[in-house]
Amino acid sequence: MYISNFTGELMSLKKRLILQNAAIVAIPFLIAIIASFVFIFISSYIFKVDLNYDSIKKLTDLQYEFFTADDNLLKGNPERLLQKDFQQYLSERLNKLNAYIVVLKKYDVVFSTKSINPIEIEKCLEAKKKNLLNNSVKLNDGPYIVKVIPLIYSDGSDGWTILLAPVDKETSASKKLLYFSMGVFFVSFLIINVLVSINSSKAILAPLKKLQRAAGEISLGNLDYEVIEDGDQEIRELCKSFEQMRLKLKESVYTQMKYDDNRKMLVSSISHDLKTPITSIKGYVEGILDGVANTPEKVEKYLRTIHSKAVQVDSMIDDLLLYSKLDLKQIPFNFEKTDVVKYFEYCIMENEPELEKHNIKLEFQNNLVKETYAMIDRERLRRVITNIIDNSKKYMNKSEGKIQIILRETSTTVIIEISDNGAGIPKEALPHIFSRFYRADTARSKIKGSGLGLAIAKHIVEEHGGLIWARSIENEGTSIMISLKKIQESEDCK
Ligand SMILES: Nc1ncnc2c1ncn2[C@@H]1O[C@H](COP(=O)(O)OP(=O)(O)OP(=O)(O)O)[C@@H](O)[C@H]1O
Ligand SMILES: [Mg+2]
Repeated sequence: MYISNFTGELMSLKKRLILQNAAIVAIPFLIAIIASFVFIFISSYIFKVDLNYDSIKKLTDLQYEFFTADDNLLKGNPERLLQKDFQQYLSERLNKLNAYIVVLKKYDVVFSTKSINPIEIEKCLEAKKKNLLNNSVKLNDGPYIVKVIPLIYSDGSDGWTILLAPVDKETSASKKLLYFSMGVFFVSFLIINVLVSINSSKAILAPLKKLQRAAGEISLGNLDYEVIEDGDQEIRELCKSFEQMRLKLKESVYTQMKYDDNRKMLVSSISHDLKTPITSIKGYVEGILDGVANTPEKVEKYLRTIHSKAVQVDSMIDDLLLYSKLDLKQIPFNFEKTDVVKYFEYCIMENEPELEKHNIKLEFQNNLVKETYAMIDRERLRRVITNIIDNSKKYMNKSEGKIQIILRETSTTVIIEISDNGAGIPKEALPHIFSRFYRADTARSKIKGSGLGLAIAKHIVEEHGGLIWARSIENEGTSIMISLKKIQESEDCK
């Protein structure tokens, strides 16, 4: 029995507690009232006992009168009971309730509104210990409700006042009704209490237990144990915060593992990739020292080779450092609002002479209709372009090399395509070229490189909020595409 299901909305803990406490009292009360009506209906129509308001009122008045009789009438001055006018007053008052009084001094009747024999008196006195709800006694002419009040007269002698009221059919039924209503109230009170406890435990304790189990799992290192939101609003919020904490924790553990992985990978790649040039430097130095290079020309040739290998090592280390800093997000970016066309015109001017030396033509095709701006870290993006053009140059296998830079746009982005007519990339290698240290097999065997150029490019483009991807046909050429978000001319440089 979920109270939240009745209302159809999420219940707050506070609301639930208020409702539950109200329900514990109100529902048994309502049930008792309904049960009483049913009782009255049954006794009136089936047993023909007219249990109306008057008969119930008569019983309660009588009970009240008897209950308060000690204080009201007698306690103050028992001698009054012996005075004629007070006896008159009492008779009238009790008459209204159809009740009788018997006053005893020691065991002698000193005043009585009902004829009563000593055995009946004894029966009444026996009943003096009975309580308010069980105070009936059977006399010769039928059952009576009795109340016995002890008295001490001024002369020191003791006595009793016995109040008697005949129990007729209605009074007896009213009394049963009273017992019945109270019984129904207590039983339904107990049942409602149990139901409310079950409900609370479902809505509060069960989700808390789940949360506790999840906390236990997490403390044991199981970060995949999902916490499902359940229960009342506050508990759901608690579950939600807990789940967010778990995800954050998982993410940070994952990042940590990734960093550790990276470091291991860097160390193993550094040792592997640096070993080759350093071994050859060592060989050439030994050649000079051992006198293998026995002419000044040979020595110069050896030194030049050593120099070029040292430059290679140097640039490899630069790449490694840059990549690892980018990966750890330790490099600050300086974004500036930049005119894309002007920027690429400058790039082309910068690269053209070097490419011409390798007989590679660099073409620029601008398909942008108007001035287009993007937020660019000019220095870092230059590195991206250099790495891509460098690849086109390195993997060029045609005598008439051609590199094209094409600018296009969509409604929100500007797309830069750098394509060449070089060796192309095998289909199976294409998905991996942006991964660190990845080199297609053919490249690895013949051409120098560490496999970091495109990984660095990808990091930098992503820091710009852009995307980078490639298309290639083996032996026909490769196109690397970069998309960057356009900004409106009016937008501020952020
Ligand atoms: N224009 C291209 N033509 C043919 N293959 C390419 C081209 N660009 C990249 N590749 C392939 O993708 C691989 C990864 O390129 P990337 O620039 O990351 O590394 P690299 O050029 O081998 O080494 P580095 O750039 O670090 O000196 C290359 O090894 C090569 O096989
Ligand atoms: Mg490269």
